[in-house]
Amino acid sequence: MLKNDLLIRALKRQACPRTPIWVMRQAGRYLPEYMEVRSKADFVTLCKTPELAAEVTIQPVDIIGVDAAIIFSDILVIPEAMGMRLEIIESKGPRLYEPIRSGADIDNLKVPDVSEALRYVEDAIRLTKKQLDDRVPLIGFAGAAWTLFTYAVEGGGSKNYKYAKEMIYNHPKEAHKLLGMITQVITDFLLMQIECGANAVQIFDSWASALSEDDYKEFSLPYIKQSVEAVKAKHPEIPVIVFAKDANTILPELADTGCDALGLSWNIDIARARGILKDKVALQGNLDPTMLYASPDRIREEASKILQKFGQHTDSSGHVFNLGHGILPDVKPAHLKVLVDYIKEESSKYH
Ligand code: CP3
Repeated sequence: MLKNDLLIRALKRQACPRTPIWVMRQAGRYLPEYMEVRSKADFVTLCKTPELAAEVTIQPVDIIGVDAAIIFSDILVIPEAMGMRLEIIESKGPRLYEPIRSGADIDNLKVPDVSEALRYVEDAIRLTKKQLDDRVPLIGFAGAAWTLFTYAVEGGGSKNYKYAKEMIYNHPKEAHKLLGMITQVITDFLLMQIECGANAVQIFDSWASALSEDDYKEFSLPYIKQSVEAVKAKHPEIPVIVFAKDANTILPELADTGCDALGLSWNIDIARARGILKDKVALQGNLDPTMLYASPDRIREEASKILQKFGQHTDSSGHVFNLGHGILPDVKPAHLKVLVDYIKEESSKYH
């Protein structure tokens, strides 16, 4: 039994005494305590060492007081498990070697048994659950197929998604084959995380806005839906959050995937999103991450605005406060604490 189950209640659109808050990328470089652990191991080693992963997962719960932990890992562990070599290069970002550019490259990829290839995530989750002692829920996650596809095909971050676009436009059959393979691994991985203790899961479609609406409906949405439906079929009680960054024009279609909640990017007005979605799903978000560079008073003012814009809760609404994208590495931890304390104190008015 969770001692603080506000996140789960909000995601299920059940009554809550206040709005819960957690922050994307909350375990990370803005925390000196993270940098201390990170000085002993490179990023990939950190992900693969359960003791270290559990330690940094719990840091923001202890230091900042967030209402949920998210398991320390990365969306790119999936392409790595499929056979690609992954490196996170300091100040340059992630790199996947020998990118997938042809049918032969696709055939060389594995659809691994996740209980072997991603066993280290299972071990990290089990250890984290033990150490968290049910103080707050633990969130598991995976990248969406489209976002992982772009990383695998581009070999890293990208500006115009040239190679990914070439593949979907010129070789749609191969593209669908690769997306299907990745989806299989995502689904197995989400199920594994739930079965070893994750209390909710989030799917990150970080590069959603690279596609037109039509292409999104062909190359991303059906794969997200497939994973959500598979999770829901086996674990209907586990909330699923879909965060499709900047996919502001197709929120209703995303809500139709069967997920419990949608993560909102910071550039859509949350009142507008609630108006469009009509409490069909819970909403998560959506303070601009750069607002944490502002003064404490300005942070509180903007947080208040978001609570007001979401508005009064009914018996079937849900709001999880979060940033509208990941926290930036040079933000002051004290500023995040200001936000978290404010939401904890002020949000009860709306419930
Ligand atoms: O949220 C959390 O605290 C849990 C851990 C987590 C990380 N990455 C840790 C991480 C999560 C949920 C992610 C998701 C992720 N990873 C996404 C989706 C979210 C989003 O931001 O849109 C994406 C696109 C990635 C890919 C990735 N991994 C990027 C772009 C980077 C940053 C590269 C850089 O140097 O800026 C990473 C590395 C990474 N993942 C770091 C952390 C804490 C920093 C690495 C370090 O410590 O050196």
